[in-house]
Amino acid sequence: MKLYTNPASPFARKCRVVAHELGLKLEEINVVARDNEDLRAINPLKKIPALVLDDGSALFDSPVICEYLNHIGGGKFFPGVTVWSQVSGRWKALGLQALGDGIMDAAVACRYETTQPEDRRNPDHVARYMATMKAGLDALERVTFGEPPAIGEITVGCALGYLDFRYSDLGWRADHPRLAQWNAKFSQYPSMLATAPG
Ligand code: BEZ
Repeated sequence: MKLYTNPASPFARKCRVVAHELGLKLEEINVVARDNEDLRAINPLKKIPALVLDDGSALFDSPVICEYLNHIGGGKFFPGVTVWSQVSGRWKALGLQALGDGIMDAAVACRYETTQPEDRRNPDHVARYMATMKAGLDALERVTFGEPPAIGEITVGCALGYLDFRYSDLGWRADHPRLAQWNAKFSQYPSMLATAPG
């Protein structure tokens, strides 16, 4: 299997963490999606991550790839439905994944905006992305994380890793001590250390 990826992408990192945890070998092909028109032949959305299976078919985006890898690797990162009436198990994992993905969306879009030439930057967009990141962090501060981790915890770990990588002066730990304490431990998982952005 080939994973079209980028060492800085927190979305691709989710897939790389799941593969690492399950001992699945992926051939990683590093691309810059924005500049790579050939990527459209694999993913019409021209986005990474995209996973090409041995039969040539492609899967995207990161929630789909992670669930596929979890399935073929016999993982437990996507819990089954236990109780329909409560937000637990599968729904908690998917909900947390959506929150982490949303923080990544805002952080990656904000990074794109702030690296544009100054006359093309839109301060309103930057403010909106920063507000989303802050509200997302505030929501995460109230979460009780599970052990062993599921896809929600992996996504949040990758989102926080991206904030530390691209927004090192954000100082999110001061206002989010519970989250900081959880992340201090989670970021030391061998799969997180092996996939650190760079
Ligand atoms: C970045 O350079 O921050 C980045 C690169 C690829 C995907 C997402 C983010």
